[in-house]
Amino acid sequence: MAPIATDAVTAEVPATNDIAELKAKLQGIKLNDADIVLPPDNTLRRYQKAGIDLSQGYPYFPPKPDFVQDVFKVRVDARDNKPYVDPGSRADPEKKALFAAAQKVNNLTTHIGTEIIGLQLKDLTDQQRDELALLVAERHIVFFRDQDLSPQKQKEIGLYLGDGLVETHVQAAQVPGVGGGVTLIWEDGRRDAFRKGRSWRVPYGGGQFGWHTDLVHEAYPPGYTHLHQDTVPEVGGDTLWASGYAAYDKLSPAFKKLIDGLNGIYRSAHKYKNSDDPDAIPEPVLRTHPLVRTHPVTGWKSLWVNRAMTVGIEGFDQPEADLLLDYLHNIYERSTDIQLRWHWTPGTSAIWDNRSTIHTVSYDYDGERHGTRVSSLAEKPYFDPTSKSKAEALKHPKWLQSPYVASY
Ligand SMILES: [Fe+2]
Repeated sequence: MAPIATDAVTAEVPATNDIAELKAKLQGIKLNDADIVLPPDNTLRRYQKAGIDLSQGYPYFPPKPDFVQDVFKVRVDARDNKPYVDPGSRADPEKKALFAAAQKVNNLTTHIGTEIIGLQLKDLTDQQRDELALLVAERHIVFFRDQDLSPQKQKEIGLYLGDGLVETHVQAAQVPGVGGGVTLIWEDGRRDAFRKGRSWRVPYGGGQFGWHTDLVHEAYPPGYTHLHQDTVPEVGGDTLWASGYAAYDKLSPAFKKLIDGLNGIYRSAHKYKNSDDPDAIPEPVLRTHPLVRTHPVTGWKSLWVNRAMTVGIEGFDQPEADLLLDYLHNIYERSTDIQLRWHWTPGTSAIWDNRSTIHTVSYDYDGERHGTRVSSLAEKPYFDPTSKSKAEALKHPKWLQSPYVASY
């Protein structure tokens, strides 16, 4: 069916079960500045069921802040005025309500990742949501396949996990009509230089594909982060995560002592103008946070660095910081025993803790990969000098025993 030409900016798209007809109608709509980039068919079906209207443009791009000063303040007041209470902190430590309702709960590796089978996220009670938060805080990431999940429900779950606040990701493409906060993981929907045509030849999956933690330059970076992939390639496009608890526990007591309490310098991925000097070259937002972060629910210490965005250490000269950070990044990125690699199937949700992990995508795929993400705002990162590492708290002998025998 040929596209239907129309000049109507407010063209209505009637509900239809015929995906081809819907696509033709959407393709025919020409809006002033907001073109419609059609999402994959599977996504369209999900949106149609959820009543998401794409006729005003897709994706939706929120207004961007111009100045580095504006970005520095983003969402600070909201959380300052409503300190975070992590839902995991009020959960039953045994998670009986969540586990009893599941068909199966499988730990995927020793140190990171759990899959829950037989539960729909949309049906969880508040008690089960609290227990899920605790499970994510402990296991770093929890997966649910075959989810029937609307973007609206995903946002509602994110608001619950974020104690009323989710990230709005001003640089990211978004689902329209849901009031912001549901962002897209979708290359075709990007407007920046990373849209399409990327090379597979980037060594170590660097740049935008490198290991990172989301939005570490913010005052209150995201905690629980929920990615629902509605369309994925059959082969490739896996996501990898690594455990910050275990990365920290791979350090000697002396090294832990050296970095405990230090503040790192964290840089934003995007650059902005300076309102005090609008003609100056755009610059990133810089913020300090602890290199070792205490988790408010588990009480465990996590290494909180990532190669993409941790660029210095307060009080250290740059070569010294580079030396320390490079070692810490290597521990995190090269220790395969503390990592997880996940192959997506359509309709899978992953909820991970952005406070205790790094993640990266494997850019080895062709075809379409489209997901919606909701990032729940957490607390300001802090280091509690009385907190313990996971291995210390659990008195795990295999971690606490030195692997090295002096031979010099
Ligand atoms: Fe990310």
